[in-house]
Amino acid sequence: TRKLNICLASSEVAPLAKTGGLADVSAALSATLHDAGHDVRLLMPYYDSIDTQALDIAPVQGLQDIAIRIGHRDGHFSIDSTTLPGSTLTIYLLRCPELYDRGSIYTNSEDEHLRFILLSRAAIVMCQHMQFAPDIMHCHDWHTALIPLYLKTYYSWDKLFANTRTVLTIHNIGYQGVFGAGIIADLDLGGSVSELHQDDLGNGRINFLKTGVLHADVLTTVSPTYAEEIKTDEYGMGLQDLLRARSSTLVGILNGVDYNDWNPATDERIAATYSAQDMRGKATCKKQLQLDLGLPVTPDRPMIGIVTRLVSQKGIDLVDQVLPALLATRDFSLAVLGSGEAHYEEFFQWLQRKFPDKVCFYRGYNERLAHAIEAGSDLFLMPSLYEPCGLNQMYSLKYGTVPIVRKTGGLADSVQLIDPENGSGTGIVFNSYNEAALTWAINTALDLYQNKPLWQQVVQNGMAQDFSWVRQAQLYTELFRKLGT
Ligand code: ADP
Ligand code: GLC
Repeated sequence: TRKLNICLASSEVAPLAKTGGLADVSAALSATLHDAGHDVRLLMPYYDSIDTQALDIAPVQGLQDIAIRIGHRDGHFSIDSTTLPGSTLTIYLLRCPELYDRGSIYTNSEDEHLRFILLSRAAIVMCQHMQFAPDIMHCHDWHTALIPLYLKTYYSWDKLFANTRTVLTIHNIGYQGVFGAGIIADLDLGGSVSELHQDDLGNGRINFLKTGVLHADVLTTVSPTYAEEIKTDEYGMGLQDLLRARSSTLVGILNGVDYNDWNPATDERIAATYSAQDMRGKATCKKQLQLDLGLPVTPDRPMIGIVTRLVSQKGIDLVDQVLPALLATRDFSLAVLGSGEAHYEEFFQWLQRKFPDKVCFYRGYNERLAHAIEAGSDLFLMPSLYEPCGLNQMYSLKYGTVPIVRKTGGLADSVQLIDPENGSGTGIVFNSYNEAALTWAINTALDLYQNKPLWQQVVQNGMAQDFSWVRQAQLYTELFRKLGT
């Protein structure tokens, strides 16, 4: 079978720039498609926050100082390249210091829309300069969701894209890229502004993700369950009607895990390696984690881990309602790594002060500690309000750390509730987003920990799961091929 030409544009690619799972997915999916022999051209912004020390970055010939007009502004960009760490794939970096030297990946600045209009248009211009005719333009989230419309309008004259099909992957419908209609001139759509959602325009808004939902040839999201959920009023965040209308072109493909990075048998960031056959290292990891966090070393006390962005999506409000009472009555410890909304950070700071022997909260972003918590915890808590896919529960399974999850999105698709009768299942799964359900789940998990034979069975069941990218990337290529002309 013919190999595909794929252009993939994303606002985040790990390890260069990451706020969440989008970065892991765009890196691992691109690298896996590349390993399978497809010609993948991956573009991301060259943020000043990228740690360039270990990267060998070189300017791409013919892609320096390209003039571009956005709205009434004349600007320039260049494209540099480097090798994606851990892979042989070349990654292209869109250099435009005026827009990307802001200290962080996302900003609240007035010109935020310009930063991602440029990314979207530069992906197209990059293909033109390389004379690269993509079979697939793969867009991710609102940041690159304008590409399908640009290909149909501004760049429709270019025969290079005659056979290009556009795919928009929705990683999180909670972030849509909504701007005031005052930015309309910056879209450079001319008469094609009629292609924007007219109700939005009437209400003075332009919605990037919605524009992509209207114009991409195919829509995907990152789990089968989330693909169903976003068609409902409860989860659609205003896009449910459009998604229902496009139901036949909306597919859910579960994310994979990069087991080169997340494998307890080879992980260089943890205190001791271990595997399903030899679990001794896990006890060492737990001890080291407790030492590092300044918690008492208690090998037999169950340890619950949390690693997350501290936003309402992640169910932190429920945690807030349930954990203080549970910590007061039951014997377990808690390691929390995260940052985000101030009131959630303050809650965990308070919880740590209240239960200093049981709780440690590390505010911030820390890759090494994320691995140490996955390895050193017994249980991992993800009570999300919604979760398009979620990666940490899949990491947990591999690390023999039993996940406690709410039955939503990718959590529902990757964790099976244990059945004490026959020893099947991989974690604790609860349905309703309320205090009673989460309390039940944590109590059940703590009880399970005391039932050693069943506990060990559940741990083994989880470690035997395989969410490797090779298989998931194949689902993408099958989809891409079906779109072919
Ligand atoms: P989301 O993309 O919604 O944040 P995911 O579960 O898909 O959720 O991905 C989150 C990713 O970000 C995981 O790789 C997780 O380990 C990482 N992560 C989140 N918060 C932190 C943090 N504070 N420190 C280190 N890694 C983090
Ligand atoms: C989003 C979602 C998360 C998903 C990630 C990667 O940030 O919140 O559930 O795993 O994207 O697709």
